[in-house]
Amino acid sequence: MTAQNIDGKAIAQSIRTQLKDKVTARKEAGLRVPGLAVILVGADPASQVYVGSKRKACEEVGFMSRSYDLDSSTSEEALLSLIDECNNDPSIDGILVQLPLPEHIEESKVIERIRPDKDVDGFHPYNVGRLAQRSPVLRSCTPMGIMTLLKATEVDTYGLDALVVGASNIVGRPMALELLLAGCTTTICHRFTRNLEDKVRRADLVVVAVGKPGFIPGDWIKPGAVVIDVGINRLENGQLVGDVEFDVAAQHASFITPVPGGVGPMTIASLLENTLYACEQYHD
Ligand code: GUN
Repeated sequence: MTAQNIDGKAIAQSIRTQLKDKVTARKEAGLRVPGLAVILVGADPASQVYVGSKRKACEEVGFMSRSYDLDSSTSEEALLSLIDECNNDPSIDGILVQLPLPEHIEESKVIERIRPDKDVDGFHPYNVGRLAQRSPVLRSCTPMGIMTLLKATEVDTYGLDALVVGASNIVGRPMALELLLAGCTTTICHRFTRNLEDKVRRADLVVVAVGKPGFIPGDWIKPGAVVIDVGINRLENGQLVGDVEFDVAAQHASFITPVPGGVGPMTIASLLENTLYACEQYHD
């Protein structure tokens, strides 16, 4: 079997085009354009690239984007008070604080300070709780984007044995909740998991988010399984690769996401969708 590539780049582009049209319609109706505040603390090169893409995407669809670039020595108190300012600003529908934060800042304190109705990353315990209780509102962007990709494959997820490799707050945990909601029998693997290979070999759907190049050998993939690779790893030769050994996995899977051009573009598309959602559902 040769897998069909899931074209995240094209699907994300079509979402962005639809969002742009919705913004135009809002303007014509005399409504405010959605606004997103993007906060970066420090100068981590990868974070700078991600934040730059988010700001650019925002402007491309016609959202108002407000950028805050704070020094790595910024105090927790100063960051919290900037969040308060954004929380109280009626022109801002969504607040994104790029993670990771410098060590002297407590991540959970920052996430919990963002008003749940402006938490377009879907990281606030309220929004995670809504997803856990089967009535999601603002959903974590990468898992949400993956669910959009799965929908595009038209694969029926009900009853599938799904495996999530990686248990982070940003991807693995909310991903497992999304798949549970979509009717999958879901297993989460992490650093203490035993017999990972057996679990991968049994899975109908595998989502891998560990950040290690080629972590999952392609021949572990069950014939006909769907493979979603969240990893974006740069090799010494400059090549970008995922967490799954793509070429071999593609010979076993029914559908697979490429790296780059699979999951990556969907995170930003979902962020934009969440910002419009917050604007329309909470702030109009
Ligand atoms: N760091 C890595 N991924 C993300 C994300 O989706 N949102 C934020 N805020 N930080 C991240």
